[in-house]
Amino acid sequence: MTGYMVEIEQAVKSFKAVNALNNVSIKFETGKIHGVIGRNGSGKTVLFKSICGFMKLTSGQIRIKGKQVKPATAQDIGLIIEEPGFIGGLSGFKNLKLLASIKRKISDQHIKQSIKQVGLDPESKKHVSKYSLGMRHRLAIAQAIMEKPELLILDEPMNGLDKQGVVEMRELFQRLNTHGLTIILSSHYAEDINALCDTVCEMDNGNLTVLENHTQSSLA
Ligand SMILES: Nc1ncnc2c1ncn2[C@@H]1O[C@H](COP(=O)(O)OP(=O)(O)OP(=O)(O)O)[C@@H](O)[C@H]1O
Ligand SMILES: [Mg+2]
Repeated sequence: MTGYMVEIEQAVKSFKAVNALNNVSIKFETGKIHGVIGRNGSGKTVLFKSICGFMKLTSGQIRIKGKQVKPATAQDIGLIIEEPGFIGGLSGFKNLKLLASIKRKISDQHIKQSIKQVGLDPESKKHVSKYSLGMRHRLAIAQAIMEKPELLILDEPMNGLDKQGVVEMRELFQRLNTHGLTIILSSHYAEDINALCDTVCEMDNGNLTVLENHTQSSLA
């Protein structure tokens, strides 16, 4: 076993007009919280989709726990890509129950435990259409963790949250990480994740750079 949850080697993803990933190589250590920052269109979502096997690389390799990622084999990964979709006219529990039933292996008790873990009330009958944005984010994270993944990938989980919401999300991610989850998350804003992440890298036009300063300051 390597000490790396994710190893990316010379990943290239080309679309007609653009190289969304331009020879990206990076290793994400197991058990840590990793941040990816970068502007709109810099390639963060493409990187995450490639890690999950939702998108096929043009060339290069991605390994999760030492095993090469093949398209459409996202085991062991909890994933939130941009806006998660829930059914507004159902409660939080019923939404997750519906998703769980598609996979047919998650008990009610376990769904409720996941909802509790993110600080929502599993017994609440409130419809999701009446949830605040912060509550929707939490429910999305509950959905991502209900299958007990070892790796949680969160694309812009702080988007649209106010200061208090961001602080609560940070605490939630730290708590999940303490229980052994490796987390990779993206943000437009360095300040959202500087306080939270063990490593930070920046995506710029498909090029990924590790921000050394961050590592130094977090060691100090
Ligand atoms: N399916 C696709 N077909 C063609 N081009 C794509 C596709 N998906 C992404 N791209 C392009 O790849 C580049 C990177 O996009 P990506 O969505 O990864 O950016 P991002 O960093 O997630 O941006 P944002 O911060 O806005 O979410 C962009 O130029 C985008 O237009
Ligand atoms: Mg994106």
